[in-house]
Amino acid sequence: MTKLWGGRFTKEAEAWVDEFGASISFDQKLVAYDIKGSMAHAAMLRSCNIISEEEGQKIHDGLVRLEKKAKNGELDFDVKYEDIHMNIEKLLTEEIGEVAGKLHTARSRNDQVATDMHLYMREETKEIISIIRDLQRVIVSRAEEHVETIIPGYTHLQRAQPVSMGHHLLAYDAMLDRDADRLTDSLKRINISPLGAGALAGTTFSIDRRQTAEGLGFDGIYENSLDAVSDRDYVIEFLSVASTIMMHLSRLAEELILWSSHEFGFIELDDTFATGSSIMPQKKNPDMAELVRGKTGRVYGSLFSLLTTLKSLPLAYNKDMQEDKEGVFDAVITVKGSLKIFTGMIDSMIIHEDVTERSIASDFSNATEIADYLAAKGMPFREAHEIVGKLVLYCIDNDIVLTQCPFSKFEESSSLFEKDIYQTLDPREGVARRNSEGGTGFTQVGKAVQKRKKQLDML
Ligand code: ARG
Repeated sequence: MTKLWGGRFTKEAEAWVDEFGASISFDQKLVAYDIKGSMAHAAMLRSCNIISEEEGQKIHDGLVRLEKKAKNGELDFDVKYEDIHMNIEKLLTEEIGEVAGKLHTARSRNDQVATDMHLYMREETKEIISIIRDLQRVIVSRAEEHVETIIPGYTHLQRAQPVSMGHHLLAYDAMLDRDADRLTDSLKRINISPLGAGALAGTTFSIDRRQTAEGLGFDGIYENSLDAVSDRDYVIEFLSVASTIMMHLSRLAEELILWSSHEFGFIELDDTFATGSSIMPQKKNPDMAELVRGKTGRVYGSLFSLLTTLKSLPLAYNKDMQEDKEGVFDAVITVKGSLKIFTGMIDSMIIHEDVTERSIASDFSNATEIADYLAAKGMPFREAHEIVGKLVLYCIDNDIVLTQCPFSKFEESSSLFEKDIYQTLDPREGVARRNSEGGTGFTQVGKAVQKRKKQLDML
């Protein structure tokens, strides 16, 4: 078969080698962007008098027809034509004849594929930002319901100090907010046009790069043609943010999995997001949370794969760069799916506040309260820490908790203790007292919820 680039070749291509080099099986995802890019390019060629009015019109009409067919899934791609760019050119030729060959004037597949990727990344980035916002809204609304629900807070996965469930949830809202910010910031680098860079060096035709950039909604153009066709930083940046999003979701996933276990019993996930066991009738497995935790690995994989692919690549375009696509396509699907699963899962989960409250009553997470109590009465905190440590040890030895510790024991360890120590030990009071800015005190959390609701409403 004669190739679109076959002029200088003497040997026929081998189908199996062609297949190895082809990207059409996956880059057909870019079809709509490829056509849009071509439309803008054709319009520019026309207005710069590089092609005639009639040629421009024919090419445009042909592309419109292809666009429609693409929407209806009526385009037949062929691996013989390697990639989406040459498939579209071939289909355009079938549509309008030889004039289709003029479309590639002053353009290369190198600036074309870069343009397609920029358009694709722009659309997906915006969509993912909006899906993150949906999840944040759900998280904030669950936080609002549970400002005064107390749960054990952990460090080292050991009981540390009780916190408000609302506060805990808002921590995830904060992480997601940074992710959305990072994506928004990346749009600055995504939304610039490589089109007109040609293969690597620009073109001899007097084209208007600003016109195509504007036509495609870009905010500007790459200043350097070599950089324009060689840059995949924006894909790496996306994969890096995608990895961070998945890392955040996997942390929440892990907590939901723990919390829904028999040992914790803090939450129950809705049936929609759980599965049963084929052998053990009693089971309700948090499959979707586990799967998101698991899928985090493949997104990291895509990031590392592309970083490695680009490492040491000389300028400008190299075929290696075709390897940018499958990983990022997969990451986009994975991140969107995971965010949506979490939105439904958080929205519908039941939070057993009675269980979380009860669980705190039987631990030592109020020990800091006593140390703070003594410190507030003037004892150096280190000394207070030591005294309370001994009291905790006494309780453990006697199989009681601090609220059950006799007052005589408190008195014995420091004369600063008064009867109000038992009130201080109440976990709910302990949480409420942590009213420093950004702390878990109910007043603080209530304010934070209102602030976040307002901020999210304004987006
Ligand atoms: N399929 C190629 C890619 O995805 C398009 C660019 C090919 N350019 C070239 N000169 N072979 O990277």
